[in-house]
Amino acid sequence: MPKFYLTTPIYYVNDVPHIGHAYTTILADVIKRYKQQRGYRVLFLTGTDEHGQKIEKSANKQGLTPKQLADSMVERFKQLWQTLNIEYDHFIRTTDEVHIKGVQKIFSKVKEKGDIYLGEYAGHYCISCENFIPESIEETADGKRTCPDCGRPTDNRVKEKCYFFRLSAYGDRLLKFYEENPEFVTPRSRMNEVVSFVKMGLRDLSVTRSTVKWGVPVPGDPQQTIYVWFDALSNYITAIDYLNEGKRFTTYWPADLHIMAKDILKYHAVYWPAFLMAAGLPLPKKELIHGWWLKDEKKISKSSGNVLDPHILLKHFNPDAIRYFLMREASIGADGNFSHEGFINRVNTDLTNDWANLVSRTTGMIEKYFANSFNQPAVYTYKEEEIRGRFGTLEKTALDCFDQYQFNRGLEAIFEYINYLNRYIVEAQPWNLAKEEANQPRLAGVLKTLTRAILSVNALLAPILTDTAAKVRTIFNAPGQDLGWHDLPEVFSILPGMQLFPRVDSKVFFTEVPQEDAAQQAGAAAPQGDAAQQAGAAADAAFSLPTIPDAANVIEIEDFKKVQMVVARVLEAEKVEKADKLLKLKIDTGDGTRTLVAGIALFYKPEDLVGRKIIIVKNLKPAKLRGILSEGMILAASDANNRPYVPILPDDTPVGAILK
Ligand code: ME8
Ligand code: MG
Repeated sequence: MPKFYLTTPIYYVNDVPHIGHAYTTILADVIKRYKQQRGYRVLFLTGTDEHGQKIEKSANKQGLTPKQLADSMVERFKQLWQTLNIEYDHFIRTTDEVHIKGVQKIFSKVKEKGDIYLGEYAGHYCISCENFIPESIEETADGKRTCPDCGRPTDNRVKEKCYFFRLSAYGDRLLKFYEENPEFVTPRSRMNEVVSFVKMGLRDLSVTRSTVKWGVPVPGDPQQTIYVWFDALSNYITAIDYLNEGKRFTTYWPADLHIMAKDILKYHAVYWPAFLMAAGLPLPKKELIHGWWLKDEKKISKSSGNVLDPHILLKHFNPDAIRYFLMREASIGADGNFSHEGFINRVNTDLTNDWANLVSRTTGMIEKYFANSFNQPAVYTYKEEEIRGRFGTLEKTALDCFDQYQFNRGLEAIFEYINYLNRYIVEAQPWNLAKEEANQPRLAGVLKTLTRAILSVNALLAPILTDTAAKVRTIFNAPGQDLGWHDLPEVFSILPGMQLFPRVDSKVFFTEVPQEDAAQQAGAAAPQGDAAQQAGAAADAAFSLPTIPDAANVIEIEDFKKVQMVVARVLEAEKVEKADKLLKLKIDTGDGTRTLVAGIALFYKPEDLVGRKIIIVKNLKPAKLRGILSEGMILAASDANNRPYVPILPDDTPVGAILK
């Protein structure tokens, strides 16, 4: 079995875990599960970065020792990973004994080789990034320097004796390595950034601090501690027993994939390979660099004061919803903007309306028409062949995307197929087939095909929708997780009755979230003053609901009577070309037919409406929309996001009935 070793960054413990950390870790977990499905033996490492000035400072502020702070934060990370169904294999802490000794070992190796030497550093230091600011960055008028990584000004001038790593000697070797391994950093644009950074010339790098106490002591010179990035990067080897170069190390190193966001690219793609070269160790095979999750145009981070606590979402949604949204919305190369509106729409549309509904419609009919088991062979047509054939095409597309870590594109293709299955139900009209005994074998053919297709899709979704996929397997009594078409036998039974994704009412969600969000912002320890207030205010503005106008505009019954509202039936519905939001409806108003154009296409598919009774305003002045004359207006309730809800009328309401 081939092995696959993948890692997330080890997160700083001054920061509460937020959506950004959750994203990287979920991505790693999805890749782990996907690789397992493809037959790899996977080792997935995550953990925490606990040394350095940043943590020391944060602990001091809270009146804790750095270790106390780390211990409490580690619990928060572990607990969140458990809630999100993250199955890491090892959690490394940089305060672990094997790590400390391992760091000292690699440091000594590089020093023995002559690539670490004693010198003196004079310059600025950005504590937030734990970054030495190169001399080439000029001082601003007020004597500060701007950290090239985070853009914050720093007045933290350092002058101290320290050890340097001979990074300058590695420029050519690094460039040669990049040239021979052009996919080392992915996506390509990030590789280009790395190459130009190295081409600009590398200076030797300070790799110890004499004024920082909270760190790994330098072997043979305990006055000095090892620079926190040298310490942190080594976790990828210390966690698999580099210390004894044991079996785990020889089996799993080099890593197959380091995953991170672009903020820490330089450390991973320049410093880390150089340290490894100096230590005579093989280099990792690939680094996957994703963008940032933003909120209000700013990177989500504790220092920006706009952290989004995944627990708020977890109060309303199951973890699969978060896993799905993050994988569906982020494309590796770009930043993603997080909004609660986007979240709830995506989840309610794809997971509840499309996927859960497909499963529940299918199981509901198997229950109703076959009492949950099929005992007879079925009749199939070319249509069922097509469903199977299209699955083959879909699977190839999805797996190609997954292999390139483009989960958003893979999921997009999967959901197109799910919608195609939903349309198949509408076309096959099982409820009509069920009316005649003679059609039973045909009805069985439709429902068995749906079951097979659902299970086949479910296997593709399983790395992302872990809990849900397990539920679907239970419902259909089919424990297999293998990829490919799920060719169930002709005789089988199911166990329906489980709800996959109960709809979250966006009204309730948007009433509660701003309060929770605000409480959480207020509770966040670090941001103070303006930044925190701004973030809080922005959150309020973004999430507050429009207030109901007071009773000033009272109308007379006569005014109301001017509006003629009647019940109509939708005869035909189709999307209006080049207008995402518009549906063209042909309706029966009891006294004739007419055409309406309705702005509900984002939420209602034509087939959802055909045959339904709706309420229309009949005497609205006709208006042309996209060249189509709309004679009247459909009534729908509308929420804070302008999401329409078309009212449901009792089945026996006559077409043409007047609302009064
Ligand atoms: O940098 N969007 O730790 P860190 C997307 N300890 N991803 C985000 C994010 C956002 N808004 N915010 C954080 C460190 N991340 C070092 C790493 S590794 C040897 C040492 C994720 O707590 C993303 O993966 O600041 C980013 O690279 C990482 O958290 C930074 O975590
Ligand atoms: Mg950070």
